[in-house]
Amino acid sequence: MTKFYPIVYLFLLLAALSMGCDKEKVLPDIDETPFVPNLPAGFPDVVSPPDNQLTQARVALGKKLFYDPVLSVDSTVACVSCHKQALAFADEGAVSKGVKGRLGFRNSPTLANVAYLPLLMKDGGAETLELQVLTPIADHAEMDFTIAGAAKRLQNSSTYIQMSYKAYNQAPSPFVITRALAAFQRTILSGNTPADKPETLTPQQQNGKQLFFGKANCAQCHNGFNYTNNGFANNGLYEMYADSGRYRITQKPADMGVFRIPSLRNVTITPPYMYNGSLNTLAQVVEHYNTGGKPHPNKSPIIQPLGLSEQEKYNLLQFLQALTDSSLLNNPTFKPD
Ligand code: HEC
Ligand code: HEC
Repeated sequence: MTKFYPIVYLFLLLAALSMGCDKEKVLPDIDETPFVPNLPAGFPDVVSPPDNQLTQARVALGKKLFYDPVLSVDSTVACVSCHKQALAFADEGAVSKGVKGRLGFRNSPTLANVAYLPLLMKDGGAETLELQVLTPIADHAEMDFTIAGAAKRLQNSSTYIQMSYKAYNQAPSPFVITRALAAFQRTILSGNTPADKPETLTPQQQNGKQLFFGKANCAQCHNGFNYTNNGFANNGLYEMYADSGRYRITQKPADMGVFRIPSLRNVTITPPYMYNGSLNTLAQVVEHYNTGGKPHPNKSPIIQPLGLSEQEKYNLLQFLQALTDSSLLNNPTFKPD
């Protein structure tokens, strides 16, 4: 027996050495090559939190996760299921289907330019893109999973382990999942529209633009480079709301039926409209505003009957059409690798 000891030790030593090599292969160094977002003309810089500066490795990992159903309980639903690039990263239904065909209660919004939103969700309930990620993963009607469970799954994948070390110098974890998805979403920028090149607008669109910024009052709420002042308002959709909106977060009566003012970029690509997808067409939206909406104690005083002629309604629609960035819908940068 004693005779074999040195051989056993040699074997153990070799095994340990080869494991060491494997380990180095499995865990690459962090790659801090920055990702420089492709800022549309006139757009401000994209600001990321200090612990999640944009790097190529982070964006690549976030993109892979965005398209991967692995984050849902039964591996059937991915972020992309409800945020499709061809639909400006929104969805076609009034509400979307999550795992087991479960329906949510709000309309899926575009993710273009979410980098600039100070508060996320229609009720402003998420303060950062990093925190927002927790909602769809946990929501019963979306992915119905746990972030810890998702991280554990990713730890079984050598590809994800590699990418995670390159991006954040650690194994897949809730930190990594939330940061990477936020990083990818900050790169989805969209600003290449006829409205951004005013000289290309047709006479009808130019007139629609004047109405938008003037008589129709739209720009009182939908203004700035992203066509939103990032505020909240009740735009008179109902006398009684089934969804209490911002009240869910603040519990203030003045926030009942109050929703975040959305960007109008790419709005022609993202029907149906409003928090619940209850208006099917932009013509219906314009008609809604033209009537001045339904009476509600919290309705914004800016929402008043507009008295637009048929021609003016048509021209306003033409201007909304000019907010479409068709290059977003096919941009290969946002497609899975
Ligand atoms: C089953 C459909 C569904 C899935 C899956 C889904 N979302 Fe969403 N998403 C929605 C809906 C609906 C909303 C609006 C919720 C609200 O405002 O209350 C939303 C809102 C968002 C917002 C806020 C946008 C804004 O304008 O405030 C972000 C960001 C987002 N989702 C990212 C993601 C990410 C990342 C994933 C994957 C981890 C994901 N979503 C998975 C349906 C979905
Ligand atoms: C008082 C502020 C305010 C004014 C003025 C206003 N809006 Fe809105 N708008 C909102 C709010 C708030 C929402 C979101 C409501 C919801 O989610 O149900 C919205 C939603 C929309 C939507 C739907 C977007 C989507 O993705 O679902 C469109 C389109 C729109 N507005 C166009 C206009 C036009 C055109 C005008 C001018 C005629 C206008 N708005 C005037 C506050 C305003």
